[in-house]
Amino acid sequence: MDKKNEVSRKGFLRTVLAIAGLTISYGTLGAVVLRFLWPSRKDAKQKIFIALIKNIPEDQTITFSTPSGESYLLSSRVVDGQKEFFAFSNRCPHLGCKVKWESEKSRFFCPCHGGVFNQNGIAIAGPPSKAKQVLKSCELLVLDTAVYAIIGKS
Ligand code: FES
Repeated sequence: MDKKNEVSRKGFLRTVLAIAGLTISYGTLGAVVLRFLWPSRKDAKQKIFIALIKNIPEDQTITFSTPSGESYLLSSRVVDGQKEFFAFSNRCPHLGCKVKWESEKSRFFCPCHGGVFNQNGIAIAGPPSKAKQVLKSCELLVLDTAVYAIIGKS
């Protein structure tokens, strides 16, 4: 092979590599810019059906889970003559044990260390009370005859 062909082959390879490098660089930059301008829909809020209102017993709880695996206790009660719905995490903020609703005492109870939360999810006894902890709540939406959980970032 003569020297002239070898030089032109090297020049051709350099040109191809330069074009490939520029394409990758500008492609990555373009993807970052597009991601910034149109963020992922995963970050948007989602509406998740939980139950029909007629199937939610008063002073009892229904357990539901979000796609991320968090479990909540949904309950209903009458406030100022209106039926209202509440959802609190069933994970104790102290050390993560499972909290349960005790309708006869109108409270959430954590059996691990005796944590007690009122019906608004505020700790009133036990270690969570000392640490001024609350049960994590879930935003709800009542539409027509059903209750939905609103999850995700705004
Ligand atoms: S884990 Fe609930 S009180 Fe400790």
